[in-house]
Parts: sequence; structure tokens; C-alpha cells
Amino acid sequence: MVHLGPKKPQARKGSMADVPKELMDEIHQLEDMFTVDSETLRKVVKHFIDELNKGLTKKGGNIPMIPGWVMEFPTGKESGNYLAIDLGGTNLRVVLVKLSGNHTFDTTQSKYKLPHDMRTTKHQEELWSFIADSLKDFMVEQELLNTKDTLPLGFTFSYPASQNKINEGILQRWTKGFDIPNVEGHDVVPLLQNEISKRELPIEIVALINDTVGTLVASYYTDPETKMGVIFGTGVNGAFYDVVSDIEKLEGKLADDIPSNSPMAINCEYGSFDNEHLVLPRTKYDVAVDEQSPRPGQQAFEKMTSGYYLGELLRLVLLELNEKGLMLKDQDLTKLKQPYIMDTSYPARIEDDPFENLEDTDDIFQKDFGVKTTLPERKLIRRLCELIGTRAARLAVCGIAAICQKRGYKTGHIAADGSVYNKYPGFKEAAAKGLRDIYGWTGDASNDPITIVPAEDGSGAGAAVIAALSEKRIAEGKSLGIIGA
Ligand code: BGC
Repeated sequence: MVHLGPKKPQARKGSMADVPKELMDEIHQLEDMFTVDSETLRKVVKHFIDELNKGLTKKGGNIPMIPGWVMEFPTGKESGNYLAIDLGGTNLRVVLVKLSGNHTFDTTQSKYKLPHDMRTTKHQEELWSFIADSLKDFMVEQELLNTKDTLPLGFTFSYPASQNKINEGILQRWTKGFDIPNVEGHDVVPLLQNEISKRELPIEIVALINDTVGTLVASYYTDPETKMGVIFGTGVNGAFYDVVSDIEKLEGKLADDIPSNSPMAINCEYGSFDNEHLVLPRTKYDVAVDEQSPRPGQQAFEKMTSGYYLGELLRLVLLELNEKGLMLKDQDLTKLKQPYIMDTSYPARIEDDPFENLEDTDDIFQKDFGVKTTLPERKLIRRLCELIGTRAARLAVCGIAAICQKRGYKTGHIAADGSVYNKYPGFKEAAAKGLRDIYGWTGDASNDPITIVPAEDGSGAGAAVIAALSEKRIAEGKSLGIIGA
């Protein structure tokens, strides 16, 4: 491909002058469907607060609100060497974290590619064996095998997992396309610890951590203004510190050494917000994504906001427009008809296409899907990507506003991480604008009282700090969870 001249960023919305009326009409309809106004956002936030509260009651609700058993704020003085692992969608990350004890840390890490199809293997042992083997490789590389001391490990496991104590995680259900039988309903800590022990590795899993809780704690370690840890990535979720006395479902379950004013990190698992479909402005495409997903009826909020689904939404709209005879006429759409063929990098790259004639988009469709596009079609596609990304950002921040309003936070930093936050063009701006619209803040955005900031490394440093806090509790003989756990 020959580029004439340097890439110049162009206005996000290029000229639509050459788009024929029938496509323009579709664009307007899509704009109507995918635009969420401030009033709707506020309605969503209001219902969100009710649902968050419901999740903390004994009866419970759609949002799990899982106590994460981190009952201290980090002081920044935690120190020592810790191992951390993070099981993501494509990679396993293994990190050696050196907490320095002065609000700083060093990390050394390796990534191990998950074997193809591991997300849906029929044999769960393969997953734990793979993690234990990778840990062994890492220990060899880093010359850690000869140490006499057992290395404490923080396991970042970013799926809804119930915890009766910090070193436990009973998987409620897989999300983000994972679907491995015989793990749901089981505690994943012994499953992994057994494989570690079989290999005689000097490692003990001392904490199981959700990525949002890790993000919250890692960011708090360096910035005590942190109010939440949030992930805008393959999945969507947030964590914050609640107070034990406000968590009704823990009433009568706590040992005496956990005072009622103790902080408690909560992994909200708010990807499941509005599974009842009461307030989220779902389009027919959202309904289709849900119906065709491995877990229909679950993760309603996540399905409209997270990276796992944004490309799929784009794909479904394009296929429908094709069926209506409006675009991609007389083309072989075999590839485009494969579910989930478009991961989020597609809408992200299309939005990022800097050329007036959208030639990067042209390339993507030709090379990856064998489809030729006309310029007006590409303009529709680009506009659609903007709409899908902007809607995701605006809805995603409803979780933030709901927690802040529930806890009465008027100011603070929301530590954010995840591929969509870090890589999706315009997401950060749209998220900040969403919060401004919800709160009605006017004036200079740099004065916004609540701001979303890039997080510290949650699944590395965060997992290590939590492991350190957990070890300290063990050393002091303090309880790690509910009575008898
Ligand atoms: C999971 C959460 C996780 C989030 C972000 C969701 O699908 O259920 O546990 O925090 O993704 O990774």
C-alpha cells in the first residue's frame, strides 16, 4: 500500500456529502438507536444504585457484590517479593513483584500464550496444568527454584467467583467466552494449588483477586485519592471499598476480630447489571448478541459495553444492512458470517483510520474478510464504530457514577485499566464526557471533581500488595473470611 504524504489525523466525522440517501437514512437510524442521552444515563445510574444496594442484602440481586476480603487500605509500606499471575483471554501473565515499601514497586514478567481452544477445553485439568507449567518455566528463568522460602502468590482470576475468604474463589459462571466444564461451582484455588504441588514448586496461593480489586489496591498503594478500580476491557467491572457494617449479607458471619467499621473491598461484578432488561437502551442487535452468546440472559451490561462484544455488534449490523440489500452487495460474506470474527481491534482500527478515503478500512475488509467496500459504505462503517464505542463508554461510566453516588464520593480518582480503555480511540474522552453529562458538570473538564485516571498494574502490583496484606493477617492470626471458612 502506498501512502501519499504523512498520516494526518482527520476529524472523527468525515464529510458525508457523497453518501447516497438510502445509506444516509440508515446512518441516521443507527444514530438514533445507539445514541444515549444524558437523561437516559441518569435513569440508568438511579437503577444501578438500587441494584448495587440489593446485591449487598441477604436476599441478593442481579449484581453479585462479592466481598473480596481485602480489609485494609494499603499503606504503601508493604514490602517483599511476591509472585502474581493473571489469567487473561489470550495470555497468562506471570509477574515477580518487588514491593519496595515506599509506595513504589518493580516487576519482572513473562507472558505465556494460552494454547488454542484452552478457553473452551473440555478438560479443566489442562488449564491448571498449563498455569503450573508456566509458573515452573518462570521460576527456572528467574532462578527462583532454589530459594528456601515459599513464595506467596496472588492469583488474579477475573471471573465472578464467590469468596468466603481471601484465598478462595468459587466460580459462579464463566464470562468473556470462557466455557470450561466442571469448574463452575468449584473453588479454583485448590485446583491450581494441586498442580503446583505436583510439580513441587515452592509456591503458596495466599490470595485470589479479581482484576478490579487488584486495580483498586495497586492504585491506592500509589495514590490514596483512588476511589475505585475499574476495568474497561474484554469484560467490564468495578471494585470499591465498602464498610463492613453496610454489607447486610455479612451480618452474623464475621469473627470478632473484624470490626464493624472495617473497610472491605467489594468486587461488584456489575457486568450483570440489568439482566432483567429494565433500563438499558438495548437495540435489536444487543438482543441478538445476547441470544447468540454462550450464556444468554447473563452479563447484560457487559454485552453492551465490553470489548468482547463491540466487534460482534458491528458485524451483526453490517450483516443486517447487507440482507436488506443496502451494502456489500454481491460479495462473498462467508468470513464475515463467522460469529466473533471481528474482535474489538477491528472497530478500534477503523475508528483510527486517518485517511480521507478510509483506505485502512478498505484494506482491513479486503485482506481479512475478502470483501470490497465502497467509500460511502466505509463512511457508514466508520460512523457505526464511533457510535458503538461512544455508547459503550457512556454506559460504562454509569457504574462509576452509581458507586460514587452510593458511597457519597464527591471527588476522587477512578483507576481504570483494560484494552478498551487503553486502546479504543476516543473511549477516554467519551467516558469523561459521559460522567460530565450524568453530573451536569460544565466548565473546564480539567476541573472535574471525579476523574478517570490510568491505573497502576492491578494484576501485578495489586495482586502482590493483596498477597502481602493477606500474609500479614495470617502472621497476626487474624481471620481471613467468614467464621469457619
Ligand atoms: C468478569 C469480572 C472481571 C471483568 C473485567 C468480567 O467478565 O466477570 O470478574 O472483573 O470481566 O475483566
